[in-house]
Amino acid sequence: MILVTGGAGFIGSNFVLDWLASHDEPLLNLDALTYAGNMENLAALDGDARHVFVHGDIRDRALLDRLLAEYRPRALLHFAAESHVDRSIHGPAAFIRTNVEGSFTLLEAARGYWNGLDDGAKAAFRFHHVSTDEVYGSLAPDAPAFTETHLYQPNSPYSASKAASDHLVRAWHHTYGLPVLTTNCSNNYGPFHFPEKLIPLMIVNALAGKALPIYGDGLNVRDWLYVKDHCSAIRLVLERGQPGQTYNVGGWNERTNREIVEAICALLDELRPDPAGPHRRLIQFVTDRPGHDRRYAIDARKIERELGWRPAESFESGIRKTVQWYLQNDAWVQRVQSGSYRDWVAQHYTGSAR
Ligand code: NAD
Ligand code: DAU
Repeated sequence: MILVTGGAGFIGSNFVLDWLASHDEPLLNLDALTYAGNMENLAALDGDARHVFVHGDIRDRALLDRLLAEYRPRALLHFAAESHVDRSIHGPAAFIRTNVEGSFTLLEAARGYWNGLDDGAKAAFRFHHVSTDEVYGSLAPDAPAFTETHLYQPNSPYSASKAASDHLVRAWHHTYGLPVLTTNCSNNYGPFHFPEKLIPLMIVNALAGKALPIYGDGLNVRDWLYVKDHCSAIRLVLERGQPGQTYNVGGWNERTNREIVEAICALLDELRPDPAGPHRRLIQFVTDRPGHDRRYAIDARKIERELGWRPAESFESGIRKTVQWYLQNDAWVQRVQSGSYRDWVAQHYTGSAR
């Protein structure tokens, strides 16, 4: 089986669902269920014995040792993190705890487990670290896109904590020989995206007739990738990537935040017209994010050249699917917004809602 951390979050839950839709290999899902973890994302797997969920923290070394000894995974995929830049600005401590200390604890547990494997299992084992393009910092408007050898220049507490974890992963390979893989991906979007991030926030606010807050001048650029394409890249790197290598993953799709918000408004005008007028009337330019990175762009030629990966979705097809998903999953949005999605933990562990 494989062990996934953070499999109740946005990308992790998409990965878990896609994995079990295309593999019969069981999956152990370890997640602390912070505000970002939502078991409702995995409701389709209720009663599926291939999905084993454990509610726990990646900083809990005793738990990690017990799980590794009991389930003996062939690979560990590390998604768990604090992931929101704005939260990292307001409260960086949790980012250091999970992204740095948690990744360290996981690496040490994986190293202990890996050292005890027989030669064949040891050679086959993989520790796949899911990371971000933000570790490379910000690009000038005409600078070439980030390659895997770009200097690390993280600018936010979030990206600094992810950069730290990338360095730990690299060192555990170089020093101890742990067979690690790292993917550095651009901005994802798609189903189950928590509505604190740009795309889902704009969709749910527009549907509610609320303001669409764009930071600064709205000309910051991100490279957007449909989440299912990120998941396919991770599956490919896990199977065919070279231990010790890093792979950049991106959508070849740079857009300004204004373009993103306008595209969402246009789709909503078509799919759910508002009698009060075009959704773009709700756009408001607000105070900028401190230290706001101006531009990210991923050069994804290495993963294409070496492993043959390219995204399947265009931005146009991916954003349409995403808007449609939010329109069809109003109950999910309502439960996230009311906080009732967190009752799952109480229901599951006590048998009744608190
Ligand atoms: P997310 O915030 O939606 O989910 C994170 C998950 O990790 C949640 O389920 C949460 O409960 C869990 N978690 C947090 N702290 C934990 C801990 N201490 N122990 C166990 N579980 C814990 O994040 P996401 O957007 O799905 O991102 C997943 C990974 O991908 C992260 O490592 C992130 O840095 C990386 N990444 C994200 C993007 C993006 O656009 N969202 C892009 C590139 C890379
Ligand atoms: O690049 C990959 C990263 O993308 C991931 O590592 C992070 O986990 C993920 O959260 C994302 O980080 P960003 O900061 O780029 O994503 P966010 O959705 O928060 O913001 C996208 C852009 O939109 C950014 O330029 C800030 C802007 N923005 C965001 C929000 C929430 C707004 O203008 N208004 C908003 O309300």
